[in-house]
Amino acid sequence: MVEIAEVQRGLEDVVALESRICFIDGKQGRLIYQGYDIRDLAARSTFEEVAYLLWYGRLPTASQLTDLKTRFGALRSLPHQVCQQLDQLPAEASPMDVLRTTVSALALYEPDETRPGASSIGGAQRLTAVLPTILGEFHRRRRGLPALTPRPELSQAAYLLYAILNREPTELEAKAMDVALILHADHELNASTFAARVTASTLSDLYSAVTSAIGTLKGPLHGGANERVMQLLDEIGSVGRVEEIVHGKLVRHERVMGFGHRVYKVEDPRATILRDWSRRIGEAAGNLHYYELLRKVEEVVHREKGLYPNVDLYSGSVYSLFGIPPDLFTPIFASSRVAGWTAHVLEEYQDLRLIRPTAKYVGQVDLPYVPVAQRS
Ligand code: CMC
Repeated sequence: MVEIAEVQRGLEDVVALESRICFIDGKQGRLIYQGYDIRDLAARSTFEEVAYLLWYGRLPTASQLTDLKTRFGALRSLPHQVCQQLDQLPAEASPMDVLRTTVSALALYEPDETRPGASSIGGAQRLTAVLPTILGEFHRRRRGLPALTPRPELSQAAYLLYAILNREPTELEAKAMDVALILHADHELNASTFAARVTASTLSDLYSAVTSAIGTLKGPLHGGANERVMQLLDEIGSVGRVEEIVHGKLVRHERVMGFGHRVYKVEDPRATILRDWSRRIGEAAGNLHYYELLRKVEEVVHREKGLYPNVDLYSGSVYSLFGIPPDLFTPIFASSRVAGWTAHVLEEYQDLRLIRPTAKYVGQVDLPYVPVAQRS
């Protein structure tokens, strides 16, 4: 048999490709998009600027930014056939399933954007613009809220909040959501981005790549962790019960969602920024319940396991205070990460090589074939 090198389970530390889009320094706790530190971008930029940066490799000028905002505003509507399909979906469906299915369906009505290998920034902009509409349209249907209008004058962050909440967000809410979108926009070769790049590397189209990515983000070890953090907080209920419940989980070798990371060996810089926003939004709402619970959970998990929080720990506490239901947290993550997925797909098309690793075969060989009638 051919000798195969040692298996790197979960492809840990395997360098699969070169990319200019995103750099993570897991030892220093730094995250860089196209050369810019995430802390600068979160403090000074907007999601629109960051999406442009990820796609074009440079920050936009004022007029380029205005053009992009105009395009986002113009690209928010869904074809009527897709709206009809949304009418048919069960109200109890998981919003991540709805997102995955609807992006896939959208491709049927937007053939120009789905040509195999089309190197289309237009498709990237379309998908980024429209994901909040899909979420909003589904959520409004299941709650019996009025139909969504595209509101082209709103930023992506404000539009996302408006689409879900059916009210104007405050300036502070829109800013917090904008920061959350910036922080989630890209993260190097995370599982969903890798899935998108694998799909693109077969010369499949952008919509197929994003459909693959949404299905991958859904899992609780990836984007699905934020929703489960809130389930944990609801189970805990009060600060006085944190020790007992978290300790119990760790003793039973259960994972505490929102902690640990494959790449960061120190605190995830996105968690640092979101912790601050969780406190700010809690103070503004006069409700620090989630913030205080999370601080205590952090203390116990760090003391007992030496684990640090990741991006998913604090995001849900911010969204919950806006009145967003937990099953929309991961779709919100997708509404941001779509900028990164599409940037990576476009990069893949530029430097294409089929992604096709090898498995170490540990099964049997040379078994004698037994005809079906003689098998016992
Ligand atoms: N809670 C309890 N124990 C943990 C956790 C956790 N959250 N994370 C890691 N560990 C333990 C794990 O049990 C193992 O312990 P031992 O060696 O005693 O068996 C050790 O740490 C190493 O874990 P691993 O699974 O080999 O590490 P990994 O690099 O494969 O895991 C991870 C990375 C994110 C899957 C993991 O930390 C995890 O499951 N975290 C909880 C889910 C989560 O918060 N996911 C969001 C990740 S960040 C955003 C995103 O990418 O979507």
